[in-house]
Amino acid sequence: MGASYQPLDSHNHHKPSSKNPPCFVSKPVCALLACGFVSLALLHLLCCSPAGAQRPAFSPLLQYINNTYYSVSSVPGGDEGCNYSEGRWVWSPGYARRYNATECNVKESHDCLRNGRPDTGYLDWRWQPAGGCPLPAFDAGAFLSAVRGKHVAFIGDSMARNQAQSLVCLLGAAFPSRLVYRDADQHKHNFWRYAFPAHGVTVSFYWNPFIVKATGKSEDESVRENHVHLDTPGDGWGADADTIDVAVLGASHWLLNGAIYYNGSEVIGAHNAPAELNYTGVGYAWPLKMAYRTAVERLSSSRPRTVVLATFSPAHFEGRPSDSPTACTKMEPYEEGEKELDWICRELRDIVYDEAEAARARSAGGGATTRVEVLDVTKLAAMRPDGHPSVYMHRDPFAHGVPERMYSDCLHFCLPGPVDTFNEILLQILRRKRR
Ligand SMILES: *[C@@H]1O[C@H](CO)[C@@H](O)[C@H](O)[C@H]1NC(C)=O
Ligand SMILES: *[C@@H]1O[C@H](CO)[C@@H](O)[C@H](O)[C@H]1NC(C)=O
Ligand SMILES: *[C@@H]1O[C@H](CO)[C@@H](O)[C@H](O)[C@H]1NC(C)=O
Ligand SMILES: *[C@@H]1O[C@H](CO)[C@@H](O)[C@H](O)[C@H]1NC(C)=O
Ligand SMILES: *[C@@H]1O[C@H](CO)[C@@H](O)[C@H](O)[C@H]1NC(C)=O
Repeated sequence: MGASYQPLDSHNHHKPSSKNPPCFVSKPVCALLACGFVSLALLHLLCCSPAGAQRPAFSPLLQYINNTYYSVSSVPGGDEGCNYSEGRWVWSPGYARRYNATECNVKESHDCLRNGRPDTGYLDWRWQPAGGCPLPAFDAGAFLSAVRGKHVAFIGDSMARNQAQSLVCLLGAAFPSRLVYRDADQHKHNFWRYAFPAHGVTVSFYWNPFIVKATGKSEDESVRENHVHLDTPGDGWGADADTIDVAVLGASHWLLNGAIYYNGSEVIGAHNAPAELNYTGVGYAWPLKMAYRTAVERLSSSRPRTVVLATFSPAHFEGRPSDSPTACTKMEPYEEGEKELDWICRELRDIVYDEAEAARARSAGGGATTRVEVLDVTKLAAMRPDGHPSVYMHRDPFAHGVPERMYSDCLHFCLPGPVDTFNEILLQILRRKRR
């Protein structure tokens, strides 16, 4: 149903969140741990007041005008030289209020407004890339024109789904759409496709948390192990691969949690498997590389195609128990310098860059015209501890008081929310000229 620390998975409620890399070297910030012992209402008042003193000293109006100017002043067609991966979140009131998630059928646990999240400051930020590079606001018409007549497929874990649903909402707010199909279990949202008939565009999501073929836990929650075939594309997208024009691949979380890995019928190693099985430990980095490699090779072809490799988007439990109602209650982004990206996050991000580079090197000289790009969201996602559903993954979670134990989602993002920025950057990648 999601990553193994995904909220609705009842088997995992008691799992420690320590496997879940925080992505940050912790520093005492906002005394959040201390606040955990205060009631939630107090916490909201005392600890993370949305009108925090850290705001830039400019008047909100001036800031707003400035933001609006910067976000529309970009060169049409995208900025060839821009690197969107570094930057900071800039206060921009209402910037992220772009659609009604209930109307575009997002997973209910990500529909934070519907679920009654009272603080909406997380919708008041835009990503400002470093070096003064402009990142234009999402433009549905520009996106659909850039992929006219094409099949855009998201393949991966529940963060890939979070981004796919964001895209359907961003596009659907401006253009008519039609649901082509979705999985029989409507609460799972694991396989679906939407059409945008005016531009002949289809957008699909394929639930493949390891990207490659996997059996076991990812298909059936009651199974303990994942069995992952590093040499074989996932069943659903593998069968459709020849129809895919733009593929966005995103996986990491399940590889961190571990699996038993196969090449053909032979076990080649495992990560986090029971010691008594005597498998060779292969960690998470090498299997992640192999999974991306197998997918890029399957998607390489002689017709033009774009494969976008998304980097790791970290969770923000930060050592707190995931069944605590205050596991992630921060109400503002981190500021530049407040936290450093930790080495696991950098390592996972570097793997994606390396595999993209390796794929370009392999195709150089050959007949393949597949373009491979990196969608680097690690830093911008890591800066947004405030953007997760937290306890607002259920409608009105405090209707019966504040319980001691309540699961928080500190991994996925609210829709609308910070994940919409992933698609703003994706649009710029797709508009760029082929290299
Ligand atoms: C306006 O935006 C630019 C670029 O982001 C920034 O350097 C400048 O400080 C901003 N000015 C105000 C008044 O916010
Ligand atoms: C963009 O910045 C990231 C992070 O600093 C870096 O790893 C990457 O190589 C840069 N990308 C390009 C195309 O320069
Ligand atoms: C979203 O739409 C639903 C149904 O149309 C409506 O009931 C709800 O109030 C809307 N939510 C917001 C946040 O506008
Ligand atoms: C699987 O085995 C084949 C044949 O020995 C080899 O070429 C390939 O690199 C192996 N793949 C992995 C992921 O180990
Ligand atoms: C694992 O290794 C131990 C010690 O060599 C052996 O006793 C045991 O049978 C092995 N287990 C399996 C499943 O092969």
